[in-house]
Amino acid sequence: MMKIKLVSVWNPKGGQGKSMLALNLASASVELGLKPLVICQDQQGTSMLYFKGGKLPFEVKAQIPKQRPDADIIFFDHQASDWEVPTPNLIVMPLKPARDQYATYIDAFKRAKSLNKDILTVVTDGQAHRADEKRTTQALKEKGAFVIPSSGVFSRAAEEYRTIFDPALNKAYKINERRREISKILGRILMEQPTTELV
Ligand SMILES: Nc1ncnc2c1ncn2[C@@H]1O[C@H](COP(=O)(O)OP(=O)(O)OP(=O)(O)O)[C@@H](O)[C@H]1O
Ligand SMILES: [Mg+2]
Repeated sequence: MMKIKLVSVWNPKGGQGKSMLALNLASASVELGLKPLVICQDQQGTSMLYFKGGKLPFEVKAQIPKQRPDADIIFFDHQASDWEVPTPNLIVMPLKPARDQYATYIDAFKRAKSLNKDILTVVTDGQAHRADEKRTTQALKEKGAFVIPSSGVFSRAAEEYRTIFDPALNKAYKINERRREISKILGRILMEQPTTELV
């Protein structure tokens, strides 16, 4: 049986970019000809709201379907305050580099690491003009983190319930750079072995 790749996008702290990443990584998967599915554990959750907006090129469900889903890759968009380390082997952990934001990430990272999870850290929304954020970003980058700088295209996309891969945003400022950053993360995700058999 074909394996489905399972990816959790997790950080118990709210507002770190989990939904943004889950949705945009799924869109990047569509660009590659894959069939992604996003699982949003919350009926009122962000990715479900996007789905109801009707502009996503993939499906969002509130739960893992009982029947084996017709998908190549599943992204779990975790809720804030979801403290338990997720079960998939591969965990994408977004964090904002502002000083008061990353303590939760460090704690969650350590707990996931102690369970031998493969963790991809993504620094989101960093402000280049803030010295402390620049320092934190640089330190994490040296340890292999991906970086998606602060960009207005994410709020613009959010207003319209689109991902940044939506052709309606083709002329947005530095859109190709932002898309490349997301696609690079997806590239790493697709390299990670082994994929997990969905039970
Ligand atoms: N690189 C970025 N540049 C600008 N804004 C960003 C960036 N990354 C994320 N954001 C914005 O940060 C906000 C929070 O992101 P998001 O909703 O994805 O976080 P979350 O971790 O899913 O939050 P919650 O825990 O509440 O579900 C959103 O408005 C999103 O558009
Ligand atoms: Mg969210």
